[in-house]
Amino acid sequence: MITGLSHVSIAVPDLEAAAKRLKEIYGLSVGAPKVNEEQGVRLAYVELPNARIELMEPARPGSPISNFLQRNPAGGIHHFCLNVDDLAAAAARITAKGARVLGEGRESRNVHGERIAFVHPKDFLGALVELEEHKGGMRDEGGGMRAEG
Ligand code: CO
Repeated sequence: MITGLSHVSIAVPDLEAAAKRLKEIYGLSVGAPKVNEEQGVRLAYVELPNARIELMEPARPGSPISNFLQRNPAGGIHHFCLNVDDLAAAAARITAKGARVLGEGRESRNVHGERIAFVHPKDFLGALVELEEHKGGMRDEGGGMRAEG
């Protein structure tokens, strides 16, 4: 079951420059960057009361984000992410209805240790969607900071 919006993810060519702009113009604080080795991205987050903004920068040449930035050199929205209470059940339910879950069968986790999967854009109105598991339906809140899993 889909329980909410986790984040909107923006691919950026320069994480530090992006964080500086968001701070200067909007007063938004971007957290410390973390590397997801598996996906080849450096990530940093703006914590909002009801969702996050994820900033992604390629951590190595040839990462999927590098390809996106070749097509969109200034950056842009790459995907959005929905919370689900049970990732395996949600993936099974939508797969049974013909949607394609990418990297099927292989378990992926984000930098917070949460189970994630991506749905093919053609199966969500043209948008790349990430599903992120939060048991009990809500992500943990700790005054805007998250414990690393
Ligand atoms: Co994401």
